[in-house]
Amino acid sequence: MGDTELVGVQQALSPVLKAKALDNRLPDPILGDEYAEQAMRRLDPGYDKRRFGTSQMGLVAVVRAKAHDDWARSFLTDRPDAVVLHLGCGLDARVYRIDPPATVDWYDLDYRSVIDLRRQFLPPREHYTLIDSSVTDLTWLERIPRGRPVLMIAEGLVPYLTETDVRRLLVSVVDAFPAGQIQFDTVAVWAWRTSKWDPTLRKYGAQFHCGFNDPAELADWHPRLEYVDEAPMNDSPVLMAKAPANVRRMYRIMNLLPGMKRSTRIVRFRF
Ligand SMILES: C[S@@+](CC[C@H](N)C(=O)[O-])C[C@H]1O[C@@H](n2cnc3c(N)ncnc32)[C@H](O)[C@@H]1O
Repeated sequence: MGDTELVGVQQALSPVLKAKALDNRLPDPILGDEYAEQAMRRLDPGYDKRRFGTSQMGLVAVVRAKAHDDWARSFLTDRPDAVVLHLGCGLDARVYRIDPPATVDWYDLDYRSVIDLRRQFLPPREHYTLIDSSVTDLTWLERIPRGRPVLMIAEGLVPYLTETDVRRLLVSVVDAFPAGQIQFDTVAVWAWRTSKWDPTLRKYGAQFHCGFNDPAELADWHPRLEYVDEAPMNDSPVLMAKAPANVRRMYRIMNLLPGMKRSTRIVRFRF
């Protein structure tokens, strides 16, 4: 990893990247992301030493990535003149997976140390810009060209922001562009409240700062914003079709617990 040190919440990119790397080694992967495998090897050369089957519980994060990819592809097919704001991008290789046409301008944003790692691990490309900033310091928005449709993707980011910051972000993006799609995932209030006991978050010294029982209500934050729909995650047909049997069994059992099926929700809005 050289001199670049990930601290606090930045380390949260690692389990998601690992899940994508392991998925790529399944005979019939969900995402099939070779970049994830290469980047994970650079981040932690021994990442696959531990038992493979248990680590694949993270496949649900791969399902989430696929849902975001599918929505993004379909938006960009309709709006090939769009600008993409991929916020809290981590080491995710979405721009390479989607490989948008040259008419799309894509921005990947995360903290400086994460962006430094991206520069080391992932290749540059045309019409693709890295922004090293906290997403909450909205001056980064001034660097984005206006007057075009926007696609905002925030995968695995919103729970780490306060509700006030999420609201300022959504309102500022809607105000800045004539039309667009906003897609992100949120956690339920109970999952936010209990996150302080989550062993992974504790290990990183990170915490969730918001949760929503009905994320569709966030459309009320701006008169031009409309809720569109939700993609399944913990009970996703893709997960149930493609995950190894032990992982499917675990999710079937977990989904019987109240609130578990919708502990994380992947949602899409338009304006
Ligand atoms: C769980 S990881 C998800 C990474 C990536 N979206 C993915 O799904 O693989 C959370 C990411 O959000 C970033 N992040 C958290 N808070 C942020 C903030 N205020 N500004 C910019 N990035 C932030 C972290 O650095 C990390 O890369």
